[in-house]
Amino acid sequence: MTPYRTPYPVPGVVWASLPLPALLIGPDNRIAEVNPAGEIFLNASSRSLMGQPAFDRLAIDAPMDEALARARVNQSPLFINDVDVTTGERAPVQCNIQVAPMHDNAEVILLIISPRDIADRLGRAMQVKSAAKSAIGMAEMLAHEIKNPLAGISGAAQLIGMNLPPEDRELADLIVEETRRIVKLLEQVEQFGNLRPPERRPVNIHDALDRARKSAMVGFAAHMQIVEDYDPSLPPTYADPDQLMQVFLNLIKNAAEACQRAGEGTTIRLHTFYDLSLRIRGRDGRPAALPLQIEIIDDGPGIPPEIAADIFEPFVSGRENGTGLGLALVSKIISDHEGWISVDSVPGRTVFRVSLPMVPKEKKEKA
Ligand SMILES: Nc1ncnc2c1ncn2[C@@H]1O[C@H](COP(=O)(O)OP(=O)(O)OP(=O)(O)O)[C@@H](O)[C@H]1O
Ligand SMILES: [Mg+2]
Repeated sequence: MTPYRTPYPVPGVVWASLPLPALLIGPDNRIAEVNPAGEIFLNASSRSLMGQPAFDRLAIDAPMDEALARARVNQSPLFINDVDVTTGERAPVQCNIQVAPMHDNAEVILLIISPRDIADRLGRAMQVKSAAKSAIGMAEMLAHEIKNPLAGISGAAQLIGMNLPPEDRELADLIVEETRRIVKLLEQVEQFGNLRPPERRPVNIHDALDRARKSAMVGFAAHMQIVEDYDPSLPPTYADPDQLMQVFLNLIKNAAEACQRAGEGTTIRLHTFYDLSLRIRGRDGRPAALPLQIEIIDDGPGIPPEIAADIFEPFVSGRENGTGLGLALVSKIISDHEGWISVDSVPGRTVFRVSLPMVPKEKKEKA
């Protein structure tokens, strides 16, 4: 077989430097070129992709044949926002797509894919921080104020119950039982408010994961299989070890509970790897890299769509008797550590990804 040669040369440096996945699509809607970011996105080499029908390799949840035809006829670009794009085995990624006919040959189409993942991830974590702060501040104050009168109510109900005939005692017991549940909830809220600032030092991420895994295995995740998929060369992060373990424990707990509730899913995968592409603006305003990636992946039913946009908010819960504080706490700890958390969930595969910084140079020297 003779190697496929593109009839549409592009200035190579520009093409290779483009930080977004981009493809050139020929008149027959076959792939004529893929840039390096596109190769990564499609998880295939440009050699294996060129000449292939574009929308066999790239399932876009939009009428793409029609969109391309329109761009060719009108000789003008076209934008398609918020579509699911699937490549190979991967879960769909929400993307914005831009389609533009080439300047010198409108039959040839330039297709640029902007995954919404990163932009959304950054935006969402920011919102979480401020929303969590105000809602929790208020809840803490309320918790404190409500606990005392509740103790009074519960005590009184117990006294009344003693003098009642058995058939009415049930009602008094109900009051006692329900107040106990509220007190428990309030204590959780207070515990949230008591979260101390992290005492950060170099921490081996796998040690924290192991502690969480062991604790989960003897308790709520006894029915699950927990698979470790670690990159053993992952450098340490700079964190409070107890808080980091709390983050992993909460994420594993949610995964185990979702699977058990639905009677679906049996496996939690703990995946660690190194990825330099995620950068955020640090506290000093300069870009900071978050290269250490930890994913907690389960094969359960996925996050209920009606709460998916708000799960990091306090008091949002999809389960009966859930407080909805688990992920709010996770998100608070992660932002105290200048990290990010993001989630990607479809039925059968939910991925919570925590991205953390490395140990700063000056702290390394001290250590
Ligand atoms: N891995 C997951 N799979 C499916 N749904 C999930 C998963 N993780 C979280 N959720 C959903 O997100 C909701 C919010 O989670 P969060 O940990 O904040 O609160 P909770 O588990 O309900 O209560 P708490 O953690 O305070 O006891 C859950 O109730 C659940 O509906
Ligand atoms: Mg939880």
